[in-house]
Amino acid sequence: MPSKYLPAPSADTMGQYPAVRMRRTRQAAWSRRLVAETTLSAADLIWPLFVVEGANTRVPVASMPGVERLSVDLIVDTAREAADLGIPAVALFPFTDPKLRTEDAAEAWNRGNLVNRATRGIKAANLGIGVILDVALDPYTSHGHDGLLIDGRIANDATIGALIKQSLVQAEAGCDVLAPSDMMDGRIGAIRGALETAGHQDTMIMAYAAKFASAFYGPFRDAVGSSSTLKGDKRTYQMDPANTNEAIREVRLDIAEGADMVMVKPGMPYLDIVRRVSHELAVPTFAYQVSGEYAMIMAAVNAGYLDGDRAIMESLQGFKRAGASGVLTYFAPKAARYLNKNITS
Ligand code: PBG
Repeated sequence: MPSKYLPAPSADTMGQYPAVRMRRTRQAAWSRRLVAETTLSAADLIWPLFVVEGANTRVPVASMPGVERLSVDLIVDTAREAADLGIPAVALFPFTDPKLRTEDAAEAWNRGNLVNRATRGIKAANLGIGVILDVALDPYTSHGHDGLLIDGRIANDATIGALIKQSLVQAEAGCDVLAPSDMMDGRIGAIRGALETAGHQDTMIMAYAAKFASAFYGPFRDAVGSSSTLKGDKRTYQMDPANTNEAIREVRLDIAEGADMVMVKPGMPYLDIVRRVSHELAVPTFAYQVSGEYAMIMAAVNAGYLDGDRAIMESLQGFKRAGASGVLTYFAPKAARYLNKNITS
């Protein structure tokens, strides 16, 4: 509605050509930089990494060209590389030995599991970098679901008990940020309560608050080895891509239950959700540029259809413009290197 007291914008108040020439500030790199409304820096990036058993071991992920699963020793080296690049945090995901995947997901609360060992390794190296760990059962269940399957359904409340056990061992291993990605109802409050009771009051929670049931997670499921085991889909717990008000409600709930930061996922097809969450709720909002988005861009780059650097930087800038505090992206090291080198261009 136009205001009662101000005249509606007219050609006069809006300014007119030739007095107004929008191209003036675009004419040089320095003036473009001066009027830039958003900036992207290495400090906006979170680098997701895949951990695999072994030593000095790298296993390429076929559907994610350039991404490898790394053994714990190489994860520590990579975290050092991330810290040197100015990337504030890494997020670790395990490729669990299929023999350790069970109905009850018990490997998830094994103190010595891959992500807990990798976390201890990174923390012992004192790199000043944050470690983020998913809280969800999918890398550990024989059926590939994020929760416990009871009588053919993902059992919400029973799953929460398992997530609490997983959260506590991860916090004990030195994880700085727990990132529940399972979409069970009530899990943020339950995990927060358990952390407070156990003396982990400073462990942060980044809730995958608005996580949609997406086709774009496919390559990630290859990377953690759950695509071949997953039975059915995740539509009874992840959100319907048709919805936006529901995302706001999900985020509100997670914040009320004690989440410090929230995430919207996937990224590029959901920038409207990033925008609404960051502007309407004014909380630290992160976007996950997921595996399928990475695969899509890489496929086009490798086919020679897109200029990689430009497409990647533009895709990341979009998240900042939508209001994201930061982005989880497999492009993190490439983007950080580019940003650190092109600081004056
Ligand atoms: C597990 C989890 C998934 C992703 C992050 N945590 C996959 C899923 O929910 O099936 C996806 C990340 C990506 O695609 O890059 N709960």
